[in-house]
Amino acid sequence: MKRDLITPLDFSTEELDKLFDLADDIRLHPEQYSHACEGRKMATCFYEPSTRTRLSHESAMLGLGGQVMGFSEASSSSASKGESVADTARIISCYADIMVIRHPKEGAATVAAHYASIPVINAGDGGHQHPTQTLTDLLTIRNLKGTLGGFTIGLCGDLKFGRTVHSLINALVRYENVRFIFISPPELKVPDYITEMLNEKGIAYEECIRLEDVMSELDLLYMTRVQKERFFNEEDYVRLKNFYILDSEKMKAAKPDMYILHPLPRVNEISVEVDDDPRAAYFRQAQFGVYVRMALILVLLGLRTL
Ligand code: NCD
Repeated sequence: MKRDLITPLDFSTEELDKLFDLADDIRLHPEQYSHACEGRKMATCFYEPSTRTRLSHESAMLGLGGQVMGFSEASSSSASKGESVADTARIISCYADIMVIRHPKEGAATVAAHYASIPVINAGDGGHQHPTQTLTDLLTIRNLKGTLGGFTIGLCGDLKFGRTVHSLINALVRYENVRFIFISPPELKVPDYITEMLNEKGIAYEECIRLEDVMSELDLLYMTRVQKERFFNEEDYVRLKNFYILDSEKMKAAKPDMYILHPLPRVNEISVEVDDDPRAAYFRQAQFGVYVRMALILVLLGLRTL
């Protein structure tokens, strides 16, 4: 049976612990893994723009001694001729050993996984899920805080369209004593299906509009960009795009060990002056993303077991 990663829930928390142990070992001893994927090929099929997600997967595979190929926009693939994701997934299975797919439609990765005979990694499906970003976020939190659980996390910005937020909440509800504070303008609140899920599980959350009102309570702050490409009209985007700007002044109210995460790319929501604050962890987070994807590739290719 092949294994895919479509949502963060595809791995149990015990498996994730072992995956993160493997990622930490790779980080400390990269040379021991540099031939692990020799002779294996990865196809990155990106129907939506990306810098980090595509290149971090490719960097991970190259770091394991494997090879990479792919396309970075739908217009340079047969999608522009009308080919379905299902057919493309079948074809990629003839050429590669593992496939990474990013697509603007929710559910596209599930379809690809169904038709592909090779492992499929969901690199973002519309506003739905982004599980490898979540693995990156969890590994980063585990390294910064020493453990997963027992913290208050503020998620701030576009909680409606941000798939990284949806994936991360899904993953964090499985850990003990995680308190959520959702900080967004009313128009960009977390979708109802998420608050319903939290209510069903009896997990407490708060919703607020002003970052300043909750800053001092947070152990982690997950900032996100307003997702321009998912807006239906330009006017709404323009009105909301600069709703939050985290600057040094606002950071004064934060705990001395309150780390700031951001999946990136950032637009204006974190002022560049914050980059020098030792609590700004977003560039370190991007580095963790390579190690966790290396671990994931090894596991999905069956070269390591959890
Ligand atoms: C995120 C995405 O594509 O969802 N970027 C990423 O993969 N690191 C976040 C975003 O685009 O805002």
